[in-house]
Amino acid sequence: MKTLIIYYSLDGHTRFVAEKIALISGGDLLEIKTAKQLPGGNVFKHFWGGKQVFTGEKPEILLLSKNPADYDLIFIGTPVWAFSYVPALKTFFSQTKISGKRVALFLTCDGMPGKTFINLKKVLAGNEIFGELALVSPFKNLEESTNKIKNWLSNIF
Ligand SMILES: Cc1cc2nc3c(=O)[nH]c(=O)nc-3n(C[C@H](O)[C@H](O)[C@H](O)COP(=O)(O)O)c2cc1C
Repeated sequence: MKTLIIYYSLDGHTRFVAEKIALISGGDLLEIKTAKQLPGGNVFKHFWGGKQVFTGEKPEILLLSKNPADYDLIFIGTPVWAFSYVPALKTFFSQTKISGKRVALFLTCDGMPGKTFINLKKVLAGNEIFGELALVSPFKNLEESTNKIKNWLSNIF
């Protein structure tokens, strides 16, 4: 079974989860990157990031290095921005059709996931969504976060 882990990450939390999933599953990673590098790790990101979500912006993303159509099992991960998934994934979904796949979702946030999973499920209609994992501030307790990821995956693989 070929596994692909698709994710976006500005400050590394979601990348951490994606890399753990790849390590455990042996799957391939596909990081969605915006053409314009946005500054992470400062307070301004909340303003421009929030604005992107509320105005429905679709930032340009770099060419994908993998084709999701080649995979059976797909993980999709996002940080929560303004209670939903990130604009870069919005661009990705508008350019790449994912259908008829087994899909598991994961997110990282600071405690308010909002409608992220609901909105992801809407845009991924036509796939079998069989798992969800939400991690709050995973860097605060790396061991606990790693255990949560391992436990979640043990039900999948
Ligand atoms: C623009 C912006 C909006 C955010 N909105 C939310 C939110 O609505 N709820 C929440 O719990 N965290 C929110 N966060 C925090 C991030 O979801 C959280 O820090 C996440 O783990 C960051 O992932 P990353 O390091 O992979 O980029 C927001 C962060 C940014 C930059």
